[in-house]
Amino acid sequence: MLYIGVDLGTSAVKLLLMDGAGEIQKIVSREYPLYFPKPGWSEQNPQDWYEKTVEGLKELLADCDKSQVAGISFGGQMHGLVILDGQDQVIRPAILWNDGRTGKETDYLNQVIGKEKLSRYTANIAFAGFTAPKLLWVKANEPENFARIEKIMLPKDYLAYRLSGVFCTDVSDASGMLLFDVEHKCWSKEMMEICGVKESQLAQIFESYETVGTLKPELAEELGLFEGVRIAAGAGDNAAAAVGTGTVGDGSCNISLGTSGTVFIASEKFGVDKHNALHAFAHADGHYHLMGCMLSAASCNKWWMEEILKTGEYEKEQSRIGELGNNQVYFLPYLMGERSPHNHPNARGTFLGMTMDTTREDMTQAVLEGVAFALRDSLEVAKSLGIRIERTKICGGGARSPLWRQMLADILNIQVDILKSEEGPAMGGAMLAAVACGEYASVEEAAEKIVRVVDTVEPIPEQAARYEERYKKFRQIYPAVKELFDTLQN
Ligand code: XUL
Repeated sequence: MLYIGVDLGTSAVKLLLMDGAGEIQKIVSREYPLYFPKPGWSEQNPQDWYEKTVEGLKELLADCDKSQVAGISFGGQMHGLVILDGQDQVIRPAILWNDGRTGKETDYLNQVIGKEKLSRYTANIAFAGFTAPKLLWVKANEPENFARIEKIMLPKDYLAYRLSGVFCTDVSDASGMLLFDVEHKCWSKEMMEICGVKESQLAQIFESYETVGTLKPELAEELGLFEGVRIAAGAGDNAAAAVGTGTVGDGSCNISLGTSGTVFIASEKFGVDKHNALHAFAHADGHYHLMGCMLSAASCNKWWMEEILKTGEYEKEQSRIGELGNNQVYFLPYLMGERSPHNHPNARGTFLGMTMDTTREDMTQAVLEGVAFALRDSLEVAKSLGIRIERTKICGGGARSPLWRQMLADILNIQVDILKSEEGPAMGGAMLAAVACGEYASVEEAAEKIVRVVDTVEPIPEQAARYEERYKKFRQIYPAVKELFDTLQN
């Protein structure tokens, strides 16, 4: 049989066709616009997601035996607020995971309601990108829109709704709403009350590998598929990526170098970081995970290359970089503010340490290093909780750069396993569909049979030692300029 994984990303939707043995048959992608209506705001049009997904599905299926397609599932950008009215019309553009407009609402939740209560109700505290503060923002700033809300959805759940007609979500993605009791996997009554929403406005909850329904008959006909094609709930993109990279056993780690950068640590049991610097979410395999998320990772490099250097030749630029660990330039990668571990929407990108002999290569290197140092910040939090991480998988666009992989191995001082495919979320989506259709008995079994490590990047001791010293300096920069970011903003 064949399975489709849909990775609803921030810049594009990627669709992947996988056979029952886990071999990738085809991948297609379609881009859509991302809008920044004000500094720090980030929005997209859900209709674009749907149209591009259907367009992509048609191309994906063009030359395959369509009668073999058994299931479709998703990995989706997390936390985005999608609101529908009584006629199922999208009320306003979706407010995305990297939108920083909710500083006031986040402060209200963390300081007036209080972090201790939030953590008790949901296992997490408020971060600007989470869904609940966005609901409070709409309530305060667009009361006429708030009054029309009939359904509150996450981005991939909007696709599942359009594809199957079922108003559903999954435990991993629901975890990032701050409306969900992660430990008990149900909506939090307290949080619904705080946000002024009713349970009927929230979706039915599924495990990520469960079937929510089947493809709508009219869509099945349009795509040439049979009506019984199963739609599985799917997962937030990081949990889906973890499935796609086989990050399912206790303590296993995956790093995603996409638009965002995440350090994802799978865990058999529910557990909370007592300072809530890491998110405590449900995993797509039926268990839990801890995660640190930086808002701009590979996107810092894209910004530097395309917007500033005006080049698309990433490899050429990186090939000119000399010895690793000797750069005098530092870069804080906070181009959209920062989530983990600083929780500071006003933080901004910053270069530091240039002299008259600083080169273009030094600055390119500083951008790549800054992202790796910021990922280490999350890893340090995990270490402080007693979690020992000696190796990680890696996925996302940035994972294709051999230089960046080596930097990560050196800066994090861990082994980096390279997989046959770095299509984390799309692959994970297809695997979840295969589990929902009974091709594999569990997510663990699918991961064990499908995912292959093809290489391992080892830290190089001299480089790791130099980076250790540089990381100590990097860590001093943010606290020194922290207050200034708020002053600049006001
Ligand atoms: C995770 C997060 C991002 C998005 C990117 O908490 O906000 O990784 O899911 O799509």
